[in-house]
Amino acid sequence: MGDDRYVRTPIVIANWKLNKTVGEAIKFASALRDAVSDVGSVEIAVAPAFTALSSVSSALGESIVHLAAQDVFWEDDGAFTGEISPAMLKDVGCEYVIIGHSERRQFFGETNESANRKVKAVLSNDLKPILCVGENLEDREADRAESVIENHVRTGLAGIPSEMLPSTVIAYEPVWAIGTGVTATPDQAQLAHQFIRSLLSEMYSVELAAGVRIQYGGSVKPDNISELITQPDVDGALVGGASLEVETFAQIAISANKQ
Ligand code: 13P
Repeated sequence: MGDDRYVRTPIVIANWKLNKTVGEAIKFASALRDAVSDVGSVEIAVAPAFTALSSVSSALGESIVHLAAQDVFWEDDGAFTGEISPAMLKDVGCEYVIIGHSERRQFFGETNESANRKVKAVLSNDLKPILCVGENLEDREADRAESVIENHVRTGLAGIPSEMLPSTVIAYEPVWAIGTGVTATPDQAQLAHQFIRSLLSEMYSVELAAGVRIQYGGSVKPDNISELITQPDVDGALVGGASLEVETFAQIAISANKQ
């Protein structure tokens, strides 16, 4: 699957989760612009909390750094107290939306079905979903990691037409590696990414699957990104803890260049 005909630009995203005030987020965004101005062939995005999206968008201005949201609701408008629509995210300059993160599944009742509704809503508003998939430790120990991943991918992408697949990013985030300091080994990551790509080949086509970017997430750090990114099916990183400091995140992004 590491076919040279399909050049997938790595994508590295800072998922700040519940961190950073507007002031802190602006300061980070301005420093990041300068730190990665000649990163080369890597796409970079930051995903601040909803409250900081608009200010970070202005701080990024015309820089190469893109803006992502951490979640979304699937309706366009209406009586849904506390929710944010895809159009609202677009309005403040978002391009990507993280969907189905394991923390949303664990703490906020996100399911494969709700993630699927969000993926559809995001795509139909010309935004790009980052669908998070991945097994927990119990699944892995019970040898059912692949069936859990398969269910996340197949249900999360149910009804998504082929022409929308190229705008979709998958993030493989094994729950046991998130915030634990235990990263998947490069081999474990490659096997899971290869499996996801083979599923996409079955669901769509080998050609379309070969163009989809699959990020790895889970304790990515400056000292493990290089060995992860050299795996043929690893196309970037979704970074939590190590994305909170500009220097550390910039180092990860710069090291994600495959060329
Ligand atoms: P950590 O990098 O802190 O393990 O978090 C990963 C993650 O959940 C990114 O979405």
